Amino acid sequence: MTFLQCYDILKFASGTAYKTYEDEGYILSKTWTVKEILDWTRDYFKGAGVERSRLEAEQLLAHTLDVDRIQLYMNPDRPLDDKELNNFRPLVKERKSGQPLQYITGQVSFMGLSLKIDNRALIPRPETEEMTEEILGEFRDYEDVKVLDLGTGSGAIAIALARFLVEPNVTAIDNSPEALELAKENARRNDLEKEIEFRHSNWFSEVSENYDVIVSNPPYVPSAKLEELKEEIKDHEPTEALDGGEEGTREIKNILDQVEGYLSEGGAVFLEIGHDQGGEIKNYAAAQNLSEVRLIEDSQGTDRILCGSKGA
Ligand SMILES: C[S@@+](CC[C@H](N)C(=O)[O-])C[C@H]1O[C@@H](n2cnc3c(N)ncnc32)[C@H](O)[C@@H]1O
Repeated sequence: MTFLQCYDILKFASGTAYKTYEDEGYILSKTWTVKEILDWTRDYFKGAGVERSRLEAEQLLAHTLDVDRIQLYMNPDRPLDDKELNNFRPLVKERKSGQPLQYITGQVSFMGLSLKIDNRALIPRPETEEMTEEILGEFRDYEDVKVLDLGTGSGAIAIALARFLVEPNVTAIDNSPEALELAKENARRNDLEKEIEFRHSNWFSEVSENYDVIVSNPPYVPSAKLEELKEEIKDHEPTEALDGGEEGTREIKNILDQVEGYLSEGGAVFLEIGHDQGGEIKNYAAAQNLSEVRLIEDSQGTDRILCGSKGA
């Protein structure tokens, strides 16, 4: 690396890059291109332990420039102006300090739908997309499916089911008023506010009807393991969305204790569970009068979804 390259990088990190230094008697001026800034940010993130350093650099830059990622590849030599660099720099610093990328960009994609996301709710995960796909696989051809999403958070599951099922009737509850506000914003953003009823409820406390599908991704991390989570999770995502009590299974069991009473005949429950909770939760569910209790693996081969039905 040349002296000038080192100099540019130091200046970028300290927030004073991209100026011409004529005032100070320098004749140095550098224009950063898309490719150069991506390479630099990737290395910077790598050094900071960000796992998908290149991808995240691209996502942050695309967000800053308000373009799709593909356009970064189409214009690698596009120069960035001062304003763009000044907008980009604080985001890079935020990400380096552990703020999740999705909270910085304020956006996440769930089953191809665009959702707003911030620290009012958990960032929806790929495993949850897989659970939602599983439900769609079973119920896509039915009309008027009545769905209850317990602990809706950002609204991800409820919104995806409302979008992809045929004229469904979706109710989504959460005990966090802040999460419910975000979920409602997301329903509006996806033009589905009329299709989903949002309700403040402590699991079933404000629920009185029966449903064909009851789905939940409840908190399932054992309390003692919260500290072991990656900093970007434990320091930024809501603890109430993660903490599953001493064994991690408190909320799952809480739901299973009551769920049969809220399922329609032939209805099914889908619960996302922790990677090592399958055996225990399957036995627990079978003891709650549910039939066809089974575990479904996620794409990593981990027992991730508990499924059971009401009736023969
Ligand atoms: C793991 S997050 C899931 C969020 C979203 N469904 C998703 O999959 O991305 C769990 C959610 O359950 C909610 N929650 C926790 N305890 C609850 C309770 N007793 N009653 C209702 N909601 C609860 C939290 O506020 C949080 O939004």
